[in-house]
Amino acid sequence: MRKPIIAGNWKMNKTASESKTLIEQLIPLLADVTEVDVVVCPPFVNVESAAAALKGSNIALGVQNMHYEQSGAYTGEIAPSMLVELGVQYVILGHSERRQFFGETDEGVNKKTRTAIEFGLKPIVCIGETLEEREAGITNEVVCKQTKLALLGLSESEAADVVLAYEPIWAIGTGVTATADDANETIAAIRASVKEAFSGDVAAKIRIQYGGSMKPGNVSELMAKPDIDGGLIGGAALKAEDFSKVVKF
Ligand code: 13P
Repeated sequence: MRKPIIAGNWKMNKTASESKTLIEQLIPLLADVTEVDVVVCPPFVNVESAAAALKGSNIALGVQNMHYEQSGAYTGEIAPSMLVELGVQYVILGHSERRQFFGETDEGVNKKTRTAIEFGLKPIVCIGETLEEREAGITNEVVCKQTKLALLGLSESEAADVVLAYEPIWAIGTGVTATADDANETIAAIRASVKEAFSGDVAAKIRIQYGGSMKPGNVSELMAKPDIDGGLIGGAALKAEDFSKVVKF
């Protein structure tokens, strides 16, 4: 049985004090949650204060990006060791906004995934198709290729521990969600590609989230599908009430 995982991607929202307030609101609301892994991913500058606020809670800390090198002359970048020292456990990699606006490639996402694993960070690797790709009928082809390239070179046990987040780009921040059946069908295809690249065992273990306008009103329908193991939540992660409702689907 795969344990569901719900992660809040706060994107470029929340100052340090706002992050602290949101975490302080979330902790009591989610204190009784044991059957779902819960993660919040604030912006980098708020990570240290978020780590302090989350101490002793059942909510794990994640971030939204990371560099693939261990250290060096990479102005403006963040190294994995910096995250580990602050108690970060998860790292979102290859989010479509990073691919779209910051030139991230499948190759770079693979490098980051390998480095994250090397440092004991759990990658949440994002994949997803554009509207044009969906309309052209090549969704499965696109997301399965992204999946295989992201996981290239990993061992079976490493791959099984990765979290994948299927986020159709046309559903992100638009209020338009993929239907639960469509999301499940694509995620099942992604799982089949993991089986092809690794094994049935890895495919059965790897957790695959859905992301894209997941919110209190649609989470239970999506989570009822057999291949959907969780959610990567944007807008609905910014309010404690909404996020806790999603977590408690
Ligand atoms: P929304 O939930 O705002 O659509 O964002 C989804 C997302 O991109 C999470 O990473």
